[in-house]
Amino acid sequence: MNKIEKITVFGGVGKDGQKEKVDRFDLCVGDIISIVGPTGCGKTTLINDIELFANQNTPSGRRVLINDEPIDEDFSFDPSKHPIALISQHTNFLSDLPVGEFLEIHAKVRGGRDIEKIIAETIEFANQLTGEPIIRTTSMTELSGGQTRSLLIADAVIIGNSPIILLDEIENAGIHRTKALELLKGYDKIFVFVTHDPRIALLSDLRIVMKNGAMQKIIYTNLEEKNAAIELKLIDDIMLELRNNIRKGEIISEQPFKMLINELA
Ligand SMILES: Nc1ncnc2c1ncn2[C@@H]1O[C@H](COP(=O)(O)OP(=O)(O)OP(=O)(O)O)[C@@H](O)[C@H]1O
Ligand SMILES: [Mg+2]
Repeated sequence: MNKIEKITVFGGVGKDGQKEKVDRFDLCVGDIISIVGPTGCGKTTLINDIELFANQNTPSGRRVLINDEPIDEDFSFDPSKHPIALISQHTNFLSDLPVGEFLEIHAKVRGGRDIEKIIAETIEFANQLTGEPIIRTTSMTELSGGQTRSLLIADAVIIGNSPIILLDEIENAGIHRTKALELLKGYDKIFVFVTHDPRIALLSDLRIVMKNGAMQKIIYTNLEEKNAAIELKLIDDIMLELRNNIRKGEIISEQPFKMLINELA
């Protein structure tokens, strides 16, 4: 297959069988998008449809095109070349290999050259996202939720070199979200975030709003929203610092917050 430049999703039906309000959207290399909506509204289902290259063969009846072409019904990717990486909401490892060996196997399967360098780069990338650094000799099953997700993201970006990366609610894993978005923006890929996090949503180019299994509307992030995301960073930083202090076992005083609230009021 040629290089993936674009994916197109054609709407199908929601849970009630009614046609989706959004009948089509296109994603091009370099786009970062979010999928938002209440719990159970079908966000995971939408990214699963993308990962499966749905062709009216899933309950939603959606259709996915790549570079304006459909994928044949019986088409299956060589798993080592699958162009989509899905970092799912619930990740469990069956493999108890040490991190380094796991990455080495993947890098070899992907035909990577300078394996040692790639492994080091992947772990370094992951460690920018997680609070507690990942050590190469730790076994995969011993990683925390946040470490696991961080490693999978790094693995998908650096070793997998996947052009399309789907991330299901990374915020719950305690990943450094702002850092993740900053790092990911440096890569020419399509990123799709399922998220309940306002910052991720506002830092995306657009967001798809879902309800009752159906895509309701597409909102393109305007300048005002982008500015709001920058302001929001202040609140985020305060929460991060608070979290760090609590993690370190410090006692929190109310004074700085009172001052801040007074300032904002
Ligand atoms: N278009 C659809 N047609 C039929 N069933 C659907 C559709 N969309 C979602 N569903 C069903 O609704 C249920 C909830 O969907 P899903 O898990 O995708 O929600 P979610 O938004 O990811 O929720 P959460 O925020 O809790 O992760 C699933 O059982 C899914 O199969
Ligand atoms: Mg979900």
